This record gives sequence, C-alpha cells and structure tokens, in this order.
Amino acid sequence: MNLNELTQMYDFTGQTVVITGGAGILGGEIACALVGCNANVAILDREPSLANRLIERLQSPVGRAIVVYGDVLDVNTLRQAAETIEKEFGKLDGLINAAGGNKPQATTSPDLSFFDLPIDALRWVFDLNIVGTMLPAQVFGRRMAQRGSGVILNISSMNAFRPLTRIPAYSAAKAGVSNFTEWLAVHMAQEYSPRIRVNAIAPGFFLTTQNEFLLTEKETGKLTPRGEAIIAHTPMARFGCPEDLLGAVLWLLSPASAFVTGIVVPIDGGFSAYSGV
Ligand SMILES: NC(=O)c1ccc[n+]([C@@H]2O[C@H](COP(=O)([O-])OP(=O)(O)OC[C@H]3O[C@@H](n4cnc5c(N)ncnc54)[C@H](OP(=O)(O)O)[C@@H]3O)[C@@H](O)[C@H]2O)c1
Repeated sequence: MNLNELTQMYDFTGQTVVITGGAGILGGEIACALVGCNANVAILDREPSLANRLIERLQSPVGRAIVVYGDVLDVNTLRQAAETIEKEFGKLDGLINAAGGNKPQATTSPDLSFFDLPIDALRWVFDLNIVGTMLPAQVFGRRMAQRGSGVILNISSMNAFRPLTRIPAYSAAKAGVSNFTEWLAVHMAQEYSPRIRVNAIAPGFFLTTQNEFLLTEKETGKLTPRGEAIIAHTPMARFGCPEDLLGAVLWLLSPASAFVTGIVVPIDGGFSAYSGV
C-alpha cells in the first residue's frame, strides 16, 4: 500500500467528469463537490440557465466547471456536447447519468387509475430514465472505450429493488437502470477494457422538485401520508440531503474503488434493510 496514493485518491486534478442533469438538485451538489475536489466538470442539462444558481458554489483554485446544452434523449446534442467538452478540457474520464425523474401524469392517484395513465406520460418517464441513461453511455462511453479507461456512474433508486406504489413507469425504468448498470459493467470490462468501470447509486428519499408533490402537502408543507410512511420505514428517520450522496459518489469515481464494477449502492438511511417489523 502506498499511503501517499491512498490519501490523494479524492484529488481529481486533471480529471474531467460530465454530469447529465447536472443543473438539478442531486447532480448540482455532485458537480460542486467534484469541482471542490479539483475536477473539471461539464454540467450538461437541457436548461443550462438552471446552473446559474450553482455558480457561487463552483469554487476551486484548480477545478473548473462549464455548462453545456444537451438533451439526454437527443443523441446529436450529446455528440455536440462531447465535442465541446473535449475542446475545453481534452479527454473525458467520468460520466454521471443524473438526468431522470417522474411526473404526476405517470403516477396513480384517486383521480387517475393505473388503467388511465396516458401512454405519453408513461413513455416520457420510461424514456427519460432508461433511454436517457443509455444514450449518454453510448456517446461518452465510446470515448472511454477508445482510450481504454473511464468511469460511468448511473443513478438508480430504491424502487429498483422493490417497486414503490403509485409510480409504475418510474419503478420499472429504475429497475432497468440497475440491470443496465450490471450489463454495461460486464460488457465494457470484457469487450473494451477492465479499466472501464460502471456502477450506480440508489438514493433513498431526498426531497426534490420531482417528488415533493408526493411527499409534502402543497398548501401546508406538511408530510403526506406517503411521506410519513417513508420516514417510518427509514431507520435513520429522516429524508436524505444531497450531501449524503457525496462519499459514495467520490468513492465510485476514484481509484479507491478500482476493483468495483457492476454494483448498485443504496444510500437510504437503512430503508432497503428494514422489513418494517
Ligand atoms: N430526489 C430523490 O429522492 C431521488 C431518489 C432516487 C433517485 N433519484 C434520481 O436522481 C437523479 C437526479 O434527481 P434530482 O432529484 O436531482 O432531480 P432534478 O432536480 O429534477 O434533476 C434532474 C435534472 O435533469 C434534467 N433533465 C430532465 N430531462 C432532461 C433531458 N432530457 N436532458 C437533459 N437533462 C434533463 C432536469 O432539467 P429540468 O428541470 O429542465 O427537467 C434537471 O435539471 C434522477 O435520475 C432521479 O430519478 C432521485
């Protein structure tokens, strides 16, 4: 063991990471952490102006961030983004697939039964989470395959292990993200290079724009019965905050996890370990 190397593992100087959905709540927090650890970060989002709120927090004497337009469902915009990133930073070392989400129209409720969920809404959720993970993995993963090294980190979810009620498309899509993570890990290692690793994190419950309609009452801000049930089934008895993801993310991007590929790490305050009894 080289102690010097060990203590430097979270210094990402000279490394470039692209984060899809990087202007979002979780992607944005990860972007700030990586820049703080000296990485060059490309925040890719379909609404780049959203990244403005991050600017003050993207501070580092070494790391730099750029914001690039990209729609994870439009391969041409991703190719263009890859060229912009390469011009700015040179090689690409990491991809974090953080674009994803659910929407009320794909969620059952007293007013909307499973049988009436509109196909457009189901497709929207399915495509965003699954196709929106595969296309960036194709575009940016190709470059890693050409160089023989790189790290891909997907974002799965608790409902990939066991589906949550009310959100059938999101649950199925995230189960697909976990499955694809394992598939791509094997494919990259066997077909291209064992130095290309693919893993995922599965966040528990974090209050963000995409789920607040399910977890809190709009008028009062109080927890909904669903929000209360989640807290009751989380042994650590709270929602996650974006910073809770950072240790696992840095670990999976860094050489500290050099022999780890094809895993999905729950970051959930114990939710997935608890039987409820
Ligand atoms: N929050 C949680 O509790 C939780 C739990 C488990 C997993 N996750 C997953 O974690 C990831 C990040 O979630 P979050 O909570 O940070 O959500 P968020 O704040 O909504 O961030 C998602 C970002 O992706 C962007 N995006 C959406 N569609 C896109 C597209 N086609 N192309 C490029 N960017 C696109 C969004 O932009 P717009 O605002 O313009 O749509 C937003 O900036 C998602 O995959 C989510 O499913 C979240």
